[in-house]
Amino acid sequence: MTNPLNLVDIDAELQLATPQDIVKYALEQHDNIGISFSGAEDAVLVDMACRIRPGVQVFCLDTGRLHSETYQFIERVRKHYDIKLDILVPDADMVQKLVSEKGLFSFYEDNHKECCGIRKVGPLRKHLLTLDAWVTGQRKDQSPGTRTNIPVIQNDKMFARPNETLTKFNPLVNWTSQQVWDYIRAEGVPYNPLHDRGFVSIGCEPCTRPVGPGQHEREGRWWWEEATKKECGLHASNTRSSSGRL
Ligand code: ADX
Ligand code: SF4
Repeated sequence: MTNPLNLVDIDAELQLATPQDIVKYALEQHDNIGISFSGAEDAVLVDMACRIRPGVQVFCLDTGRLHSETYQFIERVRKHYDIKLDILVPDADMVQKLVSEKGLFSFYEDNHKECCGIRKVGPLRKHLLTLDAWVTGQRKDQSPGTRTNIPVIQNDKMFARPNETLTKFNPLVNWTSQQVWDYIRAEGVPYNPLHDRGFVSIGCEPCTRPVGPGQHEREGRWWWEEATKKECGLHASNTRSSSGRL
């Protein structure tokens, strides 16, 4: 287990490392580690990880509201890398209660927090109780205001088991979208066909739209809400003060 006191130093070193070396370090440090997969960045991480540990654990939060193209993409990645990709579904009773009481599009009226809490954060919390570490595809330039300071390695206090440590790795923090796409093209990594139709950052179907030239990728997500609130809770530490981040 990594000593949290050393994390600042380790992070300083990892900030200078390549994503491949960060993934290698993460896998060397942790046997029980999972990659959270949904988008282009995550497919790059799966590609890097499978070269080091074929059959690495990968999981995806199936909110029930993804585009059919996203489901096809998930399936392509599963087959391409021959991995057991865990599809995590939300609690049926909670979804039932939400949609019975508030309908299928409550997020347009009272914001996305409740729906994301049930369909994404709850299943993630449950799954992370089974892991010692997890890997995400977050990048610093992905979301102005919420991701500009994310570390490569952090102590994830939000989702750790009581009295235990959960380590979170963000190997792509210092890569740009261009670098991600250069890797995808060079290595023949599968990608979501929605990217060819103007979608950049892809989440659930009702909460994602394509962006035009000059628009930031995050403007295609929860566009009816303020930019500073565009985190769904998976990465809640991003919106807390920097002191708690590592
Ligand atoms: S979100 O919090 O706004 O939805 P975003 O789409 O930017 O996140 O993705 C950032 C990272 O969060 C991804 O690289 C991935 O690691 C994780 N993530 C997001 N959505 C999912 C999902 N449905 N299943 C698994 N991991 C996800
Ligand atoms: Fe619900 Fe939209 Fe969040 Fe998906 S992104 S869980 S549909 S609020």
